[in-house]
Amino acid sequence: MDRLFTVSVTENRQLIENHFLLTLHPRKKIRRPEPGTFFMLSVDSGLDPLLKRPLSVHRWLGSDFQLLYRVAGKGTAILSRRKPGDILEVIGPLGNGFPLKQSPKGAVLVAGGIGIAPVFALAEKLSSQRPLLFYGARTKQEVLCLDGLKRLGVQAVISTDDGSLGTKGSVINVLTQVASENPDMLRGQTFYACGPEPMLTALSGFAVQRGMKGYAALEERMACGIGTCLGCVVNTTGGYKRVCKEGPVFALDEVIWERGKSQELGGRQ
Ligand SMILES: Cc1cc2nc3c(=O)[nH]c(=O)nc-3n(C[C@H](O)[C@H](O)[C@H](O)COP(=O)(O)OP(=O)(O)OC[C@H]3O[C@@H](n4cnc5c(N)ncnc54)[C@H](O)[C@@H]3O)c2cc1C
Ligand code: FES
Repeated sequence: MDRLFTVSVTENRQLIENHFLLTLHPRKKIRRPEPGTFFMLSVDSGLDPLLKRPLSVHRWLGSDFQLLYRVAGKGTAILSRRKPGDILEVIGPLGNGFPLKQSPKGAVLVAGGIGIAPVFALAEKLSSQRPLLFYGARTKQEVLCLDGLKRLGVQAVISTDDGSLGTKGSVINVLTQVASENPDMLRGQTFYACGPEPMLTALSGFAVQRGMKGYAALEERMACGIGTCLGCVVNTTGGYKRVCKEGPVFALDEVIWERGKSQELGGRQ
C-alpha cells in the first residue's frame, strides 16, 4: 500500500492536561495532506493495541507534520507516552478533506473542543481570506492554538461553557446571536466544522433553517480506516456511507444526525 509509511517522533508536547501536539517526521516523502484528511497512526511500535487510531492533519510543516490530540482512552494514553525518536506506523493521508470550491462567497469555520485540530489546518489554508472562526470549548484552558490563530489573522469568536473566556455558552448560542444582530455577516457563507456531534447536529439545524450550506468532518470510531471493515458507517440521505472513505467530511444536510445523543455543546467528551 503506497500510503503506508513510518514516522519518527520529533516532539510530543503536552499543551494542557490530556492535550498533546505531536510532531512527526515521515521516513519517506509523502504528499501534502489537505485539511480535513486524516492519518491512521499506530500508537506504539508493538502489537497492543493492534488497531491504529485516526487523527486529523493539524499542520503541515513542509515535510514533517503535526497532529493535535486529546487523550480519550487507552490508545491515545499510550500515544501520549511516545518520545522523540520513537518509530510509529502510519497510513495516510486518508479521506476526502474539506471541499473548498463549495464556498464562493466565503467560509465560516466552526470548531468545538478538539475539533480545532482539523479546523486549524483549514484556517491556515484560508489565511489570506482572514476567515471568521467560531470556536467553543469547555474552559479557557481548553481553548487551544490562540497564538497560531492570531498569527494567521483569523477572526476568532470564542465561547466557553463556563464563561472563563469569550461568551458563556455554546458556539451555536453565539452564532444565533450574531445571526440576529448582524445577519449580513453570515449571509451566503459556507460553514466548515468539526466538533462534538451535538454541536454538529445543532449547526446543521441552524444552517438548514437559514438556507446556508455547510460541511462537517465527522469522528466515528474506526477499525481499518481504508474502507474495508464497514465499521465507521453513518446514515445519510444517500444511504449508509463510510466515514473513512466517502468522508470524513460530509455536507451538513446530508447526514442524518442522531438527535438523541448527549446534549453537550462545548468540548468533545
Ligand atoms: C477521521 C477522524 C479524525 C480524528 N481526528 C482527531 C484529532 O485530530 N484529534 C483527536 O484528539 N481526536 C481525533 N479523532 C478521535 C480519535 O481518533 C479518538 O479519540 C481515538 O481514536 C480514541 O482512541 P483511544 O484508544 O484513546 O480511546 P478508546 O479507548 O478507543 O475510546 C475512549 C472513548 O472515546 C470514544 N471514542 C473512541 N473513538 C472515537 C471517535 N472516533 N469518535 C468519538 N468517540 C470516540 C469511545 O467510545 C470511548 O468512550 C478523530 C477521529 C476520526 C474518525
Ligand atoms: S474504518 Fe473500516 S470501513 Fe471505515
